[in-house]
Amino acid sequence: MPDAGTLPTHPVRGRLNSAFFAAMSGYIDQRLAGHKRRILTPAGGVVAEIGAGNGPNLRYLPPGTTVHAIEPNPYFHRRLERTAAGLGIDLTVRPVPGEAIDLDDASVDTVLCTWVLCTVDDPAQVLREVHRILRPGGRFAFIEHVAAPPGGVRRAQRLVRRPWRWTFEGCRTDRDTAAYIRAAGFRSVDITGFDFRSSFVPVRTQIAGTAVR
Ligand SMILES: C[S@@+](CC[C@H](N)C(=O)[O-])C[C@H]1O[C@@H](n2cnc3c(N)ncnc32)[C@H](O)[C@@H]1O
Repeated sequence: MPDAGTLPTHPVRGRLNSAFFAAMSGYIDQRLAGHKRRILTPAGGVVAEIGAGNGPNLRYLPPGTTVHAIEPNPYFHRRLERTAAGLGIDLTVRPVPGEAIDLDDASVDTVLCTWVLCTVDDPAQVLREVHRILRPGGRFAFIEHVAAPPGGVRRAQRLVRRPWRWTFEGCRTDRDTAAYIRAAGFRSVDITGFDFRSSFVPVRTQIAGTAVR
């Protein structure tokens, strides 16, 4: 699993990414809504969302839910706070990386992330942090685009990997994220692969699932 290198948030690309995901949120959500409803029901109590972005997942949580948003990119924060306020979510933004979360051990009922483990520098360390902050029996819910099996999509993923990583601030098109999750020491792991039907070919192969601590 060769994944090395750090890309700091860039002031121009950081803003562009926030604007891009804001503009695309309806399109993305239309394709992911069924998976989000499945993995996020029921999610309540204390929730930590890693890489919360502009907050497209908050609408799947009951109003009043306490959410700690682990979001190191400051250019997402304004939209994120606005989204949470509009939905009645009790949000705390934590501007730290998922590799070093400033929450106590076993203090969270649900950890959530969508399209984040593709981007973090060290997915194994982020998953150690997920495991650490979840209470025993707590759930980790995730949707990620992943490396495709050998074939046309895999070739496209490899072809665009460098410009894609530059544009989307560290995002790898060909990471085997399911392998990282299975190796992270959860009591049970449930992963479903699906086809993200879209013209964004490098992100067609996706997984959605839950893992129980
Ligand atoms: C592709 S965006 C997805 C945003 C949001 N989850 C969504 O589904 O729209 C990737 C997100 O991961 C965040 N991110 C990148 N590196 C991170 C890290 N090391 N720890 C936590 N979040 C990170 C980015 O700032 C960005 O919000």
